Amino acid sequence: MKARKINQILPAQAVPEGKGVTVHRTIGRPILSELDPFLLLDEMVIGADATGVGFPEHPHRGFETVTYMLSGSMRHNDTVGNVGEIGPGEAQWMTAGRGIIHSEMPTSTGVDIRGFQLWVNLPAADKMKPPRYQDIPYADIPTIDGDGYAARLITGEFLGERGPVTEIAVKPLFADITLRRSGKITVPVPVGHTAFLYGINNAFYVEGDLVQPRALVVLSDGDTVSITGDEGARLLLVAAAPIGEPVARYGPFVMNTQEEIQATLNDWNSGNFVETQ
Ligand code: CO
Repeated sequence: MKARKINQILPAQAVPEGKGVTVHRTIGRPILSELDPFLLLDEMVIGADATGVGFPEHPHRGFETVTYMLSGSMRHNDTVGNVGEIGPGEAQWMTAGRGIIHSEMPTSTGVDIRGFQLWVNLPAADKMKPPRYQDIPYADIPTIDGDGYAARLITGEFLGERGPVTEIAVKPLFADITLRRSGKITVPVPVGHTAFLYGINNAFYVEGDLVQPRALVVLSDGDTVSITGDEGARLLLVAAAPIGEPVARYGPFVMNTQEEIQATLNDWNSGNFVETQ
């Protein structure tokens, strides 16, 4: 057993995004433009009294967008014909592939909307595949009992169980972990995979280093991570196999070369971006 340690702690930065939304960004800023295979991590917060804000129609190509809600709800619509409402503790894993246009707009009122948006890269061989959409209701996400903690598992294999999101190229692990007692827990993480933690509420410690909420913790390699915190402390653990290919990105398009980005812009400008229904 080799314990992972902290390579980097990166507090989130508030960034305007979509229409009138402030997101708290860690991955996807100049200081950490990518964490292979992750391209972006935003914690979005929309106040309960906000009106007319959200993420109106916009395109994606060449990667996957993952939404995981903490509170409130959003409605998804896309050019493939998928419609879904995603609420607290629910997930949506959208593989944009060769191209999709979607919108994500608040539907709840009277409660702050809070959730995560993670961008996961696709290997070159998968970037132009047809889009795919996995909408995961609350009841389909198992809660796994660890020693001193509970883990809601969205994708990956964890303590012998498997999450409902499947067949993702980089074999990701995405778990929402809550400490069930104060003290130290030790959690398995696949060796060789890029891995990070993100505190949702309380601060916690990793190998003696204090981590505040709303900060990204990039972990060194190893097959476990030990976390010390108070009962009820909640955090995301996300890991995946790095791809190791060049990244060329322009806004919502992520390819391998500038030529592919230019071709994408040509498709977009000529109306050939998505196959019509
Ligand atoms: Co989007």
